[in-house]
Amino acid sequence: MSAKLVEQIGHLRKSLKAIILAHNYQRPEVQDIADFTGDSLELSRKAAGTDAEVIVFCGVHFMAETAKILSPHKTVLLPDEEAGCPMADMITLEQLEAEKAKYPGVMVVCYVNSSAAVKAGSDICCTSANAVQVVNAVEKDQPILFIPDQYLGQYAMNRTGREMHLWPGYCPTHMKIGVGDLRRQRARYPGCKVVVHPECRPDVIDEADEALSTSGIIRYARSYQGNTLIVGTEIGILHRLKKENPAVEYIPVTERSVCPNMKRITLEKVLCSMEEMQPTIEVPESIRQGALAAVERMLAL
Ligand code: 13P
Ligand code: SF4
Repeated sequence: MSAKLVEQIGHLRKSLKAIILAHNYQRPEVQDIADFTGDSLELSRKAAGTDAEVIVFCGVHFMAETAKILSPHKTVLLPDEEAGCPMADMITLEQLEAEKAKYPGVMVVCYVNSSAAVKAGSDICCTSANAVQVVNAVEKDQPILFIPDQYLGQYAMNRTGREMHLWPGYCPTHMKIGVGDLRRQRARYPGCKVVVHPECRPDVIDEADEALSTSGIIRYARSYQGNTLIVGTEIGILHRLKKENPAVEYIPVTERSVCPNMKRITLEKVLCSMEEMQPTIEVPESIRQGALAAVERMLAL
């Protein structure tokens, strides 16, 4: 059944001149049919640079929306329109405007895990791969409001030494990764390194050896000298880690770190979306222009 699905998707990919992009947290079989798998920053760059006419985005809504912001004339398909990101929903444009009003002259650094409208109300975007670089690029005496992830913001504050106002958003999936889980795995696998995502809580990041974006974790594993690596992020990443570097054994900090939204995308839904050319992602032009400015400022760094 799966082989047939893969074949049908392959035919449609050709006839539609489509590119299939998948985030590192996607189901293994979805990652395996993708033309490109990566972190949010890499996927944005890919979406901006592709000459395909259709982008099939296997990820969550804000990622597909970023692709549409960058490529407005392409059809962007999100195979399950319910695949959202709860963190992105933790701030609205109205809330952002009210917060900005509290800090006159504030510069808004917005994690890409946000809606197009919120991006449009922000000055510059960042991803987990470049948050430190983006914050460092802001003029030294400029006050900063970092939205919506308080923990990525806290991480960037610690790495840059910059004070920032933080919006209290968080990723529910990364909140399932506790410092107790990390200690338990360290005790079970003494001498092994622990690498986590910067969306984790500060106590988890403090006890890890590295905090990196999803593709940063994959690059780290490529040059890892040990036999076992302990990984603290959404467990979909384990597929790519094992596939690209099978000599290392990967142990999740906890098996509970599963993002249900990422798992909504299935091969069946990918095929169905390509057959029906929906659900498509649309962004009103007035919002897109503002969001594009914030995304392009990030990509230009
Ligand atoms: P990356 O940009 O590191 O892939 O992270 C995206 C994300 O949603 C993490 O939860
Ligand atoms: Fe959003 Fe967290 Fe899922 Fe990433 S893992 S898409 S931040 S809910």
